[in-house]
Amino acid sequence: MTPSDVKATLSFSDGSPSMELPIYKGSIGPDVIDIRKLYGQTGKFTYDPGFLSTASCNSTITYIDGDKGELLYRGYPIEQLAVNCDFLETCHLLLYGDLPNEAQKNDFTARVTNHTMVNEQMQFFLRGFRRDAHPMAIMTGLVGALSAFYHDSTDINNPQHREIAAIRLIAKMPTLVAMAFKYSMGQPYMYPRNNLSYASNFMRMMFATPCDEYVPNDVLVRAMDRIFILHADHEQNASTSTVRLCGSSGTNPFAAIAAGVACLWGPAHGGANEACLNMLEEIQRNGGVEKIGEFIKQVKDKNSSVKLMGFGHRVYKNYDPRAKLMRETCHEVLGALGLGNDPLFKLAMALEKIALEDEYFVARKLYPNVDFYSGIVQRAIGIPVSLFTAIFALARTVGWIAQLNEMIADPEYKIGRPRQLFVGAAKRDVKPIGQR
Ligand code: SDX
Repeated sequence: MTPSDVKATLSFSDGSPSMELPIYKGSIGPDVIDIRKLYGQTGKFTYDPGFLSTASCNSTITYIDGDKGELLYRGYPIEQLAVNCDFLETCHLLLYGDLPNEAQKNDFTARVTNHTMVNEQMQFFLRGFRRDAHPMAIMTGLVGALSAFYHDSTDINNPQHREIAAIRLIAKMPTLVAMAFKYSMGQPYMYPRNNLSYASNFMRMMFATPCDEYVPNDVLVRAMDRIFILHADHEQNASTSTVRLCGSSGTNPFAAIAAGVACLWGPAHGGANEACLNMLEEIQRNGGVEKIGEFIKQVKDKNSSVKLMGFGHRVYKNYDPRAKLMRETCHEVLGALGLGNDPLFKLAMALEKIALEDEYFVARKLYPNVDFYSGIVQRAIGIPVSLFTAIFALARTVGWIAQLNEMIADPEYKIGRPRQLFVGAAKRDVKPIGQR
């Protein structure tokens, strides 16, 4: 952080002493006003529910420019990573700060590959769930359960332990998601294969059975890998902030990631891809493209709780660059599968066009986000809607663990402990029950 020459002065109209607040510059993006001494000097807190104007940390991992619609992982534009790299190269970048060379990539791939199996005991956790349990309920349980297997071998303050925890989580998430899927189907689990790429391995564990091999289609594997890249990290979003706050107590990293899984499940966050596809299917059922106008009317009606799922973003007030890449992937996958006339894809594009011309959305700077098209691609690959968010969690695990490890490695970090503006009852005495 670079101290700025500019200072912020806080003064009060009631004559309370004013104070100077230092301002820091990042390498790119908005400056920050350092308020760490505010309460000590003024007895006042800042107030920022939802943290819209609050930088919770300093980070070197991911940068978003919401106005430009720009997303950088360690400085590399997402558009370049999505075309020139695969997910494991992106994982190496997010974890270690740079893209791997050939030797580093082979070493990293080997380390991840050799941790893809889970302890055989893990399957007994699944048996406690109903077969129709939501995969995110299962994933919250399974990821939390991993902490039981590695708690004694994880000293979060040991950099080597933090690294092996990262490798284990990246390696085992595909196996766990595939197990959750197989469990819901009543099919046996498929073990990972060390001779397959990360995305192929996942797809084989999902779609192969002991009776039939699954020969992955290269276009679908590339699409799956790209979905992982686009969802890998996204600055201090709700689930990443959850992982940081949870991990700040020094808890087991697997438990902190389980907290991230739980947060991501929400429809305002990672659950939006599932909600978006359900929304498209409902519009399709109710008349399709001809009925979009009626649906948009509901969305604009403040009394309805209807939102255009997959649209809008807390940070992007321009097009989410991931949505553009996901739309391209849609074209590629549907074309490869001969589904170019997929009615839902056509409906989504029609909906996007109408929304982008409608004053309600234009005035509110609402654009498609990563979730608007990802569901259509995943459905075309054969992934059930209920599994979409679990796949988002699979991909985001590398971002969560990279952000958690960055925080723990920061000598200045301490347990997170926000305060509040109290508006409840002032002190009062308890009356005996006969007088209440
Ligand atoms: C993700 O933070 C991240 O980085 C998240 C994420 C990541 O990679 O981690 O990018 C992943 O979560 C993407 C977002 C997925 N969620 C959805 O698609 C659900 C639908 N979107 C909305 O719920 C909403 O847009 C949010 C939650 C994403 C953002 O909420 P905000 O910041 O509260 O929205 P806003 O303040 O910008 O809204 C401004 C106005 C409001 O109307 P008014 O009160 O001004 O009249 O726009 C309205 C909102 O009601 N609005 C929408 C809308 N999103 C906002 N109206 C209809 N449909 C929508 N989708």
